[in-house]
Amino acid sequence: MALIGEIALLTGNASRNLAASIARALGIALTPTLVDRFSDGEIRVQILENIRGLDVFIVQSTLPPADNLMELLLLVDAAKRASAARITAVIPYFGYARQDRKDQPRVPISAKLVANLLEIAGINRVLTLDLHTDQIQGFFDVPVDNLYATPVFQEYFHDLPENTVVVAPDVGATRRARAVAKKLGNFPIALIDKRRPHPNAAEVMHVIGEVEGREALIVDDILDTGNTLAKAAQAMQEHGAVRVRAAITHGLFSGRARDILAASPLTEIVITDSLELPEHRYPPQTRVLSVGSLLAEAIRRIHEAESISALFV
Ligand code: R5P
Repeated sequence: MALIGEIALLTGNASRNLAASIARALGIALTPTLVDRFSDGEIRVQILENIRGLDVFIVQSTLPPADNLMELLLLVDAAKRASAARITAVIPYFGYARQDRKDQPRVPISAKLVANLLEIAGINRVLTLDLHTDQIQGFFDVPVDNLYATPVFQEYFHDLPENTVVVAPDVGATRRARAVAKKLGNFPIALIDKRRPHPNAAEVMHVIGEVEGREALIVDDILDTGNTLAKAAQAMQEHGAVRVRAAITHGLFSGRARDILAASPLTEIVITDSLELPEHRYPPQTRVLSVGSLLAEAIRRIHEAESISALFV
């Protein structure tokens, strides 16, 4: 690989605010880039400054619509053709992650397809946050750094009461709950046995663990329709929790999520700014924490070829 120059930070339309806070934390300006539409809606991209030989980081979450992914692919292609020395896709929310294996007949492995598309476009690395499943890293043949939002939550929830229980709203969230519980203060965990009668619906079957008289902190990677979280919160209340809060990395708040969650027993829903949604999509209990400094520090370390494992503590 050619000698790598300074950092150039670019962004698409999905992550403008987060990219601006990353740039502030790095003490650099965003590289001016046009990410516009032709009259028919097709995406038009142009990088407006020389990036030849630079260490290019492109920040873009790939939430729906698929235009966000397409913007990222086009930015990567533009950077490659502009002779960037290295291109890192910084994907705070990696969309299309939920179909990650062929567990039913005639389904795609969407996460693998997205990985292929990004590699063909020309990425050299990926920096992401709380991937839905760790094995998605293996869908790429380039290095993937998968950060956790835990340090950001840890700072916010630094004084949790002793009677806290950290709750996994489904079996898939157990490992995350265990890790978060340990980091936040060696709290016990409770598990919810959730069933999905059909996609986007959630039903609580059983609660495993001590909840009565405790403060429940539900942790998860994604909040989409809000059904999983609302049902988990309700189950916590029914099992005697004295307060129910949540820490979720990626808040999509699709469909009726706002109303469902506004009417739930949750007193606080803490999310990160990995996704940028209009205010009216958030229920009133929402609190947004920034992962800007965390991502900036990872970018600095990748650029300086320093270890980023210190960010995982
Ligand atoms: C599932 O495995 C994820 O971790 C989330 O629990 C899920 O995506 C949340 O979806 P929803 O908000 O639609 O229930």
